[in-house]
Amino acid sequence: MLCIKNGRVLTDCGIKRDELWTNEGLIIEKPEYPPENTRFYDAEDCFVLPGFIDAHTHLEMTNSITATADDYASGTAAALAGGTTTVIDFATQDRGGSLNEALEAWMDRAEGKCSCDYAFHMAVTDWNNRTKAELRDMVKAGVSSFKAYMAYRDLMLGDEALARLLSEAGALGCVVGAHCELGEGVERGVKNCLNEGKTGPGYHPLSRPPRVEADAVSRFLELADRSDSLPWVVHLSTSTGFDEIKRFREKGKSVLVETCPQYFSLNDEVYSLPGFEGAKYVCSPPIRSEEHRQAMESAITNGDIDIISTDHCSYRYRGQKDIGKNDFSRIPNGLPGIEHRAVLLWEMVERGEIGVERFYELLAKNPAVNFGMYPRKGTLSVGSDADIVIWDPDCMWTIRADEQFMNTDYSPWEGRQVKGKARAVFLRGVLCFEGGRLLQRGIGRYIPRKSRIG
Ligand code: URP
Ligand code: ZN
Ligand code: ZN
Repeated sequence: MLCIKNGRVLTDCGIKRDELWTNEGLIIEKPEYPPENTRFYDAEDCFVLPGFIDAHTHLEMTNSITATADDYASGTAAALAGGTTTVIDFATQDRGGSLNEALEAWMDRAEGKCSCDYAFHMAVTDWNNRTKAELRDMVKAGVSSFKAYMAYRDLMLGDEALARLLSEAGALGCVVGAHCELGEGVERGVKNCLNEGKTGPGYHPLSRPPRVEADAVSRFLELADRSDSLPWVVHLSTSTGFDEIKRFREKGKSVLVETCPQYFSLNDEVYSLPGFEGAKYVCSPPIRSEEHRQAMESAITNGDIDIISTDHCSYRYRGQKDIGKNDFSRIPNGLPGIEHRAVLLWEMVERGEIGVERFYELLAKNPAVNFGMYPRKGTLSVGSDADIVIWDPDCMWTIRADEQFMNTDYSPWEGRQVKGKARAVFLRGVLCFEGGRLLQRGIGRYIPRKSRIG
């Protein structure tokens, strides 16, 4: 039995100075007669929060050119170091392949390697009768959310297929997400830049302007409007995209909205860094102007964003990002962020823009509720998994790539001075991380998730 004492515990009735008790991996009521061998953990000066959930990661993802720098081992170790105790990663259907084959392949990759718990969304890239039939198999296997890409030639679904996915998955109570950039707009933008000899990483954001996102959000929500699914706009980056969301919500419709730290903590000045440095920030959608960054921050403050995930998709600067040395469209897209999500959002708590409860909702409760893991995850209620973050709000430190667990040779936030840190992290009652050291690796388990209709 374990008792965490002296901390400020996030309970169902707000934050309270309280004890938190766990036994055999679960949160329990305070026992009347605690056993003599009870272990105590002193959380003095810290918040005691439910383990964070990162609902959008790409680990051990391979394409025809390269593979992500983080596999399940390094990625989930880095997640844990930042207070994340569950990741929902993307399994992706191969064109011509089945959803069951894809899930099996991704399960095999993750098995036995993860340091935090994990679950899968399924990215659908090929819609046909077999895909349709297999949606039920996915729900049975605990995969209750799907995603479609509206951009990327090798992955994208057309409007007709996306509409069918929304309606069939919706009927099963599943969430359907979309990468909202219109493929034709992206291809036109890239072609125009390259034809004009604009080949450096600084042209990446110009090739995918905000309108490309807004048009995709508008089309996605129009298609979703005709189905029962809960649409999920992943990695929102613009105020123009957000305007489309507001219009949809004004009609009384529900949509789940996610943004990521790169869209509220950085702006497009990163693309003006000297030489090829801007390649470190090549992700899609791109990092936006200060005006859009501020819009994302306000949307978080005003309660209009539901979930903060990372879209962690890591490539090393040397040897991977430089594949696109002479052509920005060949730079592998994605950023390493799985380790630093909480501390970057904590900056908003520090500035008084959001409270600790909202911080928790964005990082843990909302992903758990919307992706079918609540109350097993995302709360410190009796009977929940004892996934616990001891969060030190006063720890001052500097983000440095050479001190991180992520397997990249850079951090997009290199040299940033931050406040707040996971002092210790428990996964199902086991102390896995403390004082900057990983104490346990590889004990993460697969977490099957429920759809909204059971
Ligand atoms: O650039 C990014 N975001 N790469 C990861 C795949 C995606 O679009 O989510
Ligand atoms: Zn995406
Ligand atoms: Zn992604």
